[in-house]
Amino acid sequence: MLTGDRPTGKLHLGHYVGTLQNRVRYQDHYDSFFLVADLHMLTTKNTPEAIAEVDANARQLVLDALAAGIDPQSVTFYLQSAVHEIHELYTLLQNLVTVSRLERIPSLKDMARDAGIEMPYGLLGYPVLQAADILCVRAHFVPVGKDNIAHVEVTREIARRFNFLYGEVFPIPEGQVGEVPTLVGTDGQAKMSKSLNNTIFLSDTAKEVERKVMGMFTDPRRIRADIPGTVEGNPVFIYHDIFNPNRAEVEDLKTRYRQGRVGDVEVKQKLAAAINALLEPMRERRATYDVPGMVEHILYEDTLRARAETQETLFEMQKAMGLTGVWNRIRRKAEKYAAKSTEHAPEGSQA
Ligand code: TRP
Repeated sequence: MLTGDRPTGKLHLGHYVGTLQNRVRYQDHYDSFFLVADLHMLTTKNTPEAIAEVDANARQLVLDALAAGIDPQSVTFYLQSAVHEIHELYTLLQNLVTVSRLERIPSLKDMARDAGIEMPYGLLGYPVLQAADILCVRAHFVPVGKDNIAHVEVTREIARRFNFLYGEVFPIPEGQVGEVPTLVGTDGQAKMSKSLNNTIFLSDTAKEVERKVMGMFTDPRRIRADIPGTVEGNPVFIYHDIFNPNRAEVEDLKTRYRQGRVGDVEVKQKLAAAINALLEPMRERRATYDVPGMVEHILYEDTLRARAETQETLFEMQKAMGLTGVWNRIRRKAEKYAAKSTEHAPEGSQA
C-alpha cells in the first residue's frame, strides 16, 4: 500500500472519512508506505513563506496519521524529496503519457484556480509525479481522497504502458476512496475544507469541537424547538449518521426533530459527544507521539528504507528498458569520478 498527503496543514474529519480511515483499516493487509508529498506541494505553493512551513506541517501530518491509528511499526513514513531517485523515475515515466491526457484532468485546473495561478508545467505533471510515488514501491493498493482517483487512473495507464513496452515490472495499482468521499462542511457548504473555514480538525480539543458543533448550520426555517424540522440534507443529521454509532439515539432524535419535539441544543450536544468519542483515543495517541524528536526519528529511519526500495525499482526499470548497458557504465564511472574528486578536493572547496 502506498499513500500520502501534501504537508499543507492539519487533517480534518473530511480527510478521516474520505481516506484516512481506509488507510488505518488496511495498513496491516499490506507492506505499507505513507509519504509526505512536499514536491507535490511545490506545484501550487512554492514561495519561501510556504516552504518555511514544510517542517512544521510535515510533523503535523505524521502526527495526525499516528493519532488516527497508523502504526509506525507497520507503516514506512517518508519524505518524498529525500528520495532522490523519485526524480529519475518521474523523468522516465514522463514519456509514457501525453500532454493532452493530462490537460483533461479537472482536478489540476481546480488546483491552479484555487491557488490563483496559471497552470505551471510542474502542476500539469502532478499525476505523473504521483505515479512515480506509487510505482517506486510497486504498490498494489492506493487509498486516496476522491480528487485523487483520476491521478491513480493515470498511474494505471502509465504502468500498463511501461509493462507493454518493456516487460512486466509493475503491478496495476488499485485506488480506493473512503466511505464518505465528500463530507459537508459545518457551515452546510458542499465540502469541508480548510480554506472555507468550516472544518473540525482531528487535533481540535473537546471544547473546540463543542463550540464548532454548536455553531453548525442546520434547518434555517426552524426558529423554535416546537417547529417541525427537516432531517434530510441537514448537516447536523448527516454528521449524526456518519459519526454517531448509537443508531437508536439517532433515530429517536430524527423522529422528535421531525415532530418539533427536540431542541437544536440537545441534537448538537449529542453530536459533539459522538465526535469527541471518536477523537478522544486520537488525542491520547497523539500525546504519546508528540514528544521532541520522535516524529523526526521515525521519518528519518523510514525514509532510508523507502529510498532503498526505490533504488531497487529504478534498477528493475533500467534493466527492462535496456538502460543498463554502456549508458549505465558511463554513469557509474562518472559517479566514481565525482566521488574521487570530492575526496581530493582542497580544504574548503565546493566540489
Ligand atoms: N496527491 C495527494 C494529495 O492530494 C498526495 C500524494 C502524492 C499521494 N503522492 C501520492 C497520494 C501517492 C497517494 C499516492 O495530497
